[in-house]
Amino acid sequence: MNDKASAAKETFTLKDNRTGKTFELPVIKGTTGPDVIDVRKLYADTGCFTYDPGFTSTGSCESKITFIDGDKGVLRYRGYAIEELAEHSDFMETCYLLLHGELPTEKQKKDFDWTIAHHSMLHEQLVFFFRGFRRDAHPMAVMCGVVGALSAFYHDSTDISDVKHRMTSAHRLIAKMPTIAAMAYKYSIGQPYIYPDNNMGYAENFLHMTFGTPCEEYKVNPVLAKAMDRILILHADHEQNASTSTVRLAGSSGANPFACVSAGIACLWGPAHGGANEAVLNMLKTIGSVDRIPEYIKRAKDKNDTFRLMGFGHRVYKNFDPRAKIMRRTCHEVLDELGVKREPLLELAMELERIALEDDYFVQKKLYPNVDFYSGIIFRAMGIPVDMFTALFAIARTVGWIAQWKEMIEDPTQKIGRPRQLYNGAVERKYAPVHKRK
Ligand code: CMC
Repeated sequence: MNDKASAAKETFTLKDNRTGKTFELPVIKGTTGPDVIDVRKLYADTGCFTYDPGFTSTGSCESKITFIDGDKGVLRYRGYAIEELAEHSDFMETCYLLLHGELPTEKQKKDFDWTIAHHSMLHEQLVFFFRGFRRDAHPMAVMCGVVGALSAFYHDSTDISDVKHRMTSAHRLIAKMPTIAAMAYKYSIGQPYIYPDNNMGYAENFLHMTFGTPCEEYKVNPVLAKAMDRILILHADHEQNASTSTVRLAGSSGANPFACVSAGIACLWGPAHGGANEAVLNMLKTIGSVDRIPEYIKRAKDKNDTFRLMGFGHRVYKNFDPRAKIMRRTCHEVLDELGVKREPLLELAMELERIALEDDYFVQKKLYPNVDFYSGIIFRAMGIPVDMFTALFAIARTVGWIAQWKEMIEDPTQKIGRPRQLYNGAVERKYAPVHKRK
């Protein structure tokens, strides 16, 4: 048990009604947010495990990185409100903050920008690696593979016990992720890869590598680059979500950071997590026209129908998602800039948003549009192909994954993650030879 638990003054009394015995469990307080009941000695003391599939009441670690209050719609990185960061900061500064715990000085910021820019190119042999994939591969499949393969190329940053290796791998992952995603896209459409340009900002460079060609100059629209930068800030970290927990769990065995982030990408891909922004667009295409919205709203409310409104609801934010508020504004800015408000799919999205926000079922269950609802629409308006949406989320979340991974590795109390279970299968039985089985 760590110092905090043994120093905990408050306790939680647990009574076992089967035996009448009581147990005192230490209560640990964070700087803000709910207290936690320390159950680490519970099994040794009581012979029982806790049971919490989906981890709705379980804190898996101690962290100083991101704070969320789902009821109040609060999200802070290292103590700074997401609204302030989205308004005044940029993605590189936010990355520095998440990794180092403090906002950079002017010099630190300049050095960090330089370092990330100068790690953005891929080992040339890795560029050939892409050719092993089918052209119609999903970019997330390519990302899982190529990011995992980084560990085969950058041996000088895979020693997790070396602080310099840890930081270099963090820089490499943040820097190379947009290059990998853009290359996956270029490969899928048969266009030549566009190499990163170190004179460009991070979001600008991604748009340049995605939409540029060697045949003509591609001028990145500054409004779109700014919007993209803001989207990256909003997605940079989100506490112990499914993919971050995956990265931590993979890393808890001592696996290298490239392999761990590849595991995070795999988890993010699912439609209940990062894949939701892609699912939003697919859903809009399925709905097809405004007059069919009521039919789908009805289906979303039907308990016997598996259909859900993609981009609505959140496990943690039960009143509103603070990122969605900012994204809504950004979404309207982008649509105005591009003058695409009259695009049928986007019109459909805006109408769906209006109806769902007024519908009793959604209002009562507090199912508001989440960040993925708006990011899907923004990306669509920017001309980003639908299957690249989740890859963009992966670019943004990489800093969160790696900051959380680093924090875990640097925590002296860290252990391999190994949950237990409630076993409900067959009890012990005798093996029968095949000729005696019925
Ligand atoms: N459409 C219709 N009904 C819904 C929806 C939805 N999108 N989301 C939740 N509900 C209903 C659900 O049927 C349940 O009803 P009841 O209490 O009558 O059984 C109630 O709301 C609570 O749902 P839940 O599944 O217990 O809530 P959860 O916290 O486990 O799920 C969620 C959260 C995000 C997985 C879910 O809301 C969902 O599937 N949303 C659509 C997918 C989506 O947009 N995901 C992106 C999440 S944000 C990005 C990220 O952080 O990765």
